[in-house]
Amino acid sequence: MDIELSKQDGILTIAFDREDKKNAITAAMYQQLADALKEAEQDAAVRAILFCGKPKVFTAGNDLEDFLRHPPSDKDAPVFQFLWQLSHAGKPIVAAVAGAAVGIGTTLLLHCDLVYAADNARFSMPFTQLGLCPEAASSLLLPHIAGYQRAAEKLLLGEPFDALEARDMGLVNRVLPGDELLPFARQQASKLAALPAASIRVTKQLMKKNRVSATEQQISAEVEHFARMLVAPEAKEAFTAFLEKRKPDFSQFA
Ligand code: COA
Repeated sequence: MDIELSKQDGILTIAFDREDKKNAITAAMYQQLADALKEAEQDAAVRAILFCGKPKVFTAGNDLEDFLRHPPSDKDAPVFQFLWQLSHAGKPIVAAVAGAAVGIGTTLLLHCDLVYAADNARFSMPFTQLGLCPEAASSLLLPHIAGYQRAAEKLLLGEPFDALEARDMGLVNRVLPGDELLPFARQQASKLAALPAASIRVTKQLMKKNRVSATEQQISAEVEHFARMLVAPEAKEAFTAFLEKRKPDFSQFA
């Protein structure tokens, strides 16, 4: 299994576990993630959710080979099911990020409640570099938390940034040494799990209330562009170049 699920003391830990491919997420993995979040909502024994990866990589984002072969074609595709579950999660979500967090590896954090990063964390949203556009409502949520100019720099150029910059932007709550990351994130998740579930649920709901429908609309608007761009020649060139370990050549596209 490329997603490892474990339940302990009220915390559901969802760990990316495909290190040989830098935890890149396939459609099958998105389905596992969507199902896990859906089940967690209905399971009273789950009082907090913790996302983590490996010490050197959180996730390299969408599996580009899988995306090339099986581009998500409709709104029921596993990646969109995952985004729906994540953006509608009623239970509190903590993320512990070490190493690379690429694409959805960064944008999923915008839907988490507490985000902790190791000092080796490196975030990026290289959508334009791949001939794509933002997803997961990041084109709405990132400008909201970081301000337009900072969001524009990250989303238009798609260049990586480090944990301290992510903290300064408001994407990350706290930066920790690598060996302290997971114990600290677990401890925070335990605190959430020990508090009255109804208070946590209502507090989260109230904080997110004004953004829920705007987030939904933005995800839909992004999906329309994303799905079209995913099968366009620019993305094909970018994905193929990555898999062939060469630089993409966009000069042929207007
Ligand atoms: N999709 C598919 N395979 C991926 C992948 C992805 N997103 N990211 C990494 N891999 C694979 C590589 O192809 C390579 O496979 P191989 O060993 O069979 O050749 C393996 O994982 C190791 O990756 P590599 O690039 O050699 O590791 P690195 O440590 O030099 O760099 C990253 C790590 C994450 C910075 C780099 O792999 C990367 O930029 N990945 C692409 C990220 C991306 O564009 N994601 C999509 C966002 S929408």
